Amino acid sequence: MREQLGLLKEKAEKELSQCKRLDDLNAFRVKYMGKKGELTKILRGMGKLPAAERPVMGQLANKIRDSLENKIADLTEKLKKKEMEQSLLAESIDITLPGIGPELGRQHPLSLVIEEIEEIFLGMGFMIEEGPEIELDYYNFEALNIPKDHPAREMQDSFYLSPEVLLRTHTSPVQARTMEKMRPHLPVKIIVPGKVYRRDDDATHSPMFHQVEGLLIDQVVRFSDLKGVLLNFAQQMFGADQKIRLRPSFFPFTEPSAEVDISCVMCKGTGCRTCGQTGWLEVLGAGMVHPRVLEMGGYNPEEVSGFAFGMGVERIAMLKYGIDDLRLLFENDVRFLRQF
Ligand code: DAH
Repeated sequence: MREQLGLLKEKAEKELSQCKRLDDLNAFRVKYMGKKGELTKILRGMGKLPAAERPVMGQLANKIRDSLENKIADLTEKLKKKEMEQSLLAESIDITLPGIGPELGRQHPLSLVIEEIEEIFLGMGFMIEEGPEIELDYYNFEALNIPKDHPAREMQDSFYLSPEVLLRTHTSPVQARTMEKMRPHLPVKIIVPGKVYRRDDDATHSPMFHQVEGLLIDQVVRFSDLKGVLLNFAQQMFGADQKIRLRPSFFPFTEPSAEVDISCVMCKGTGCRTCGQTGWLEVLGAGMVHPRVLEMGGYNPEEVSGFAFGMGVERIAMLKYGIDDLRLLFENDVRFLRQF
């Protein structure tokens, strides 16, 4: 019987080590320790042994049974864990798969340029002002030294809503509005970004476009201050090697007046198609605020002086990003807008 038990132990342990699933373990238990199990049978046969051998054999058989039971318990734990893991894995979803994200919008190139212009002038101590797009004839023209019969009105074909009300043709009326609001405070140091409207519509003109106005009034403001501020702006906007050039011009609200050119951003001044071989690009109008305009705004031209300027945002954006057709800025084609 001792031999029988030894063989059984060996065989059982070998089989046990081959159990891979909980089902195998159950079958194993039935096969050896069930009612008709192999070990059970041997234990039952104990009765036939001589009384002297019974305790020894009994002990041995119990030891084998206990050892098998322990091993089954261990293995059961292990297999349970493994099967649990497997079923969890089978159920799990792969959270590393990329989802379907919402399409992100982005800023329009004109907004980007306006923000950049604002940042540059905020850095020089200017404040940002705004004014109405539906404007009184008085602020759009009269307060800027453009009386009713003045030929300069023809430069700015206007959308009139009534004889005294129109869509503003430039951001300059906010000069007059701000002076009225702030007088007699000094300095008046503002820029005014905004939409303006003119009866123009072709490849290079849109009936609505954007300007940024600038105004600085203080006790002593010189023409050289204007030049310095504009040079600083041009260099921050287009690069530290930028040059600017001022040419005599005329605006009713400034005296003297100037057209301001920057060196061509495409060819760096050597001459190309963009600058018409001149090496220069016209980007803004400027000048010293006309004494009549100061006066109408409530400041004494004997005591203060100032400069003003106005620039077209579309033109700056086109130069900055190399856009060759103004209409691209207004068609809202996402394939174009996605590039900024
Ligand atoms: N308002 C002018 C225009 O729309 C631009 C301009 C020129 C503004 C000279 C100014 C200035 O402030 O000083 O054509």
